[in-house]
Amino acid sequence: MNFKTIIEPFRIKSVEPISMSTEAQRTKYLKDAKFNPFLLKSEQVVIDFLTDSGTSAMSTHQWAAMMNGDESYAGARSWDKFEKAVYELTGMPHILPVHQGRAAERILYSSIGGKGKYFISNTHFDTTRANIEYIGSAAIDIPVPESRNFSSDYPFKGNIDIGKLAAHINEYGSENVAGVILTVTNNSGGGQPVSMQNAKEASELCRRHNIPFILDCCRIAENSFFIHAREKGFDSLTYREIAQQMFSLADACIMSAKKDALVNMGGFLALRDKKLSDACTQLLIITEGFTTYGGLSGRDMEAIAVGLEEVFDPGYLQYRIRSTQYLGESIYKKGVPVIYPIGGHAVYVNAKELYPHIPVSEYPGQALVCELYKTGGIRAVEIGSVMFGKYDAHGTLIPAAMELVRLAIPRRVYTQSHIDYVIEVFDEILRNKKSAKGLRITSEPQFLRHFTAHFEEMGELVES
Ligand code: F0G
Repeated sequence: MNFKTIIEPFRIKSVEPISMSTEAQRTKYLKDAKFNPFLLKSEQVVIDFLTDSGTSAMSTHQWAAMMNGDESYAGARSWDKFEKAVYELTGMPHILPVHQGRAAERILYSSIGGKGKYFISNTHFDTTRANIEYIGSAAIDIPVPESRNFSSDYPFKGNIDIGKLAAHINEYGSENVAGVILTVTNNSGGGQPVSMQNAKEASELCRRHNIPFILDCCRIAENSFFIHAREKGFDSLTYREIAQQMFSLADACIMSAKKDALVNMGGFLALRDKKLSDACTQLLIITEGFTTYGGLSGRDMEAIAVGLEEVFDPGYLQYRIRSTQYLGESIYKKGVPVIYPIGGHAVYVNAKELYPHIPVSEYPGQALVCELYKTGGIRAVEIGSVMFGKYDAHGTLIPAAMELVRLAIPRRVYTQSHIDYVIEVFDEILRNKKSAKGLRITSEPQFLRHFTAHFEEMGELVES
């Protein structure tokens, strides 16, 4: 019997209270936070869907392992466990621990990139793009065209466009392409999965042109679930074996352990090439820490080693993907435009379609983020022109390709009734959609502006 109710495959041993608030209180909190939910305090939030990063609930096994943390500066026992876990999964011999994913990005991309170089990806995540642009390289996104059709049920909308990849390599010259980065799942492209076939083709192309092929693998277990379910020939492999096969195609990988390693902090860079690893190790020691801890404490490395095992548990992965789909499909049925099929870690709402009365220059995604917070205390993130918009020489906004809002679901944290509450909040969002207001930016930094920008609401109410 297939029961409808999603039962979480865990019991709750320790609880963390949620502070409830009224809409009037939240309206004030949001104004004080300059209409930017990154500037809210977590106690002001009811359901926190800002990110699935570093927000996982750890298991009893992870907490127990933490007590075994060996905090020695060099040669810690915890490092051995961490290195073994990462090696057995990735098969890559050179492993560098870092405090989080972006540190691995900075170390690797500044070692292989530089002024005038190109990085090509299915879609660069925001910190990836920022690290690449910061060193004077260009970050080129070439997702498959199917990724732009939000309603088709194409199974691998996270794929990179292989035809365009070949054309770009020819155009830029392979010596100028510093790396091809495959982000699995494709976070900024709707959390959509990448097929093994696509990874193979990208890998072969890179090999032919002698270009490093890099996996941004922070959600590789979730990606493996989709390959197992949707790609022919993979249903007899375990999720872990699928991930191992994908790693075998890559020259290097960077991982933010804050996602699929089910921990609150950590990451790594793993490489096949000794010379490149030596160059990266120099930077690691200068900026992160010694080779056997990077930016991590021993207890963090213990928790990651356990998390990298737990995440491939079939019961966990099935619950994880099913509960994300449950949220996405429920609001889709109500008429909320979402990216379909639903991805692994998050539901992405197409704010441009939900709020056609708000022009892109007034950030419909940010408007939805504000409405979700005011209405239900739900914190989400805009992935659109606030995050990825640029200005031309005249200061006019060059919008992002899409105006999305991401509802990212922390791992093992919320129950089905929390999710049901969010679904109910969307009834209100739909009821009030015509009165949602656009925003203007009143201050912003040069890089990654979405984290700290200040906004104000556009004055006029739209006629309903
Ligand atoms: N790559 C991808 C695909 C990511 O999603 C992230 C982080 C990073 C790299 C950087 O890792 O945060 O550990 O430095 N994503 C988070 C998110 C922040 O909310 O999606 P980090």
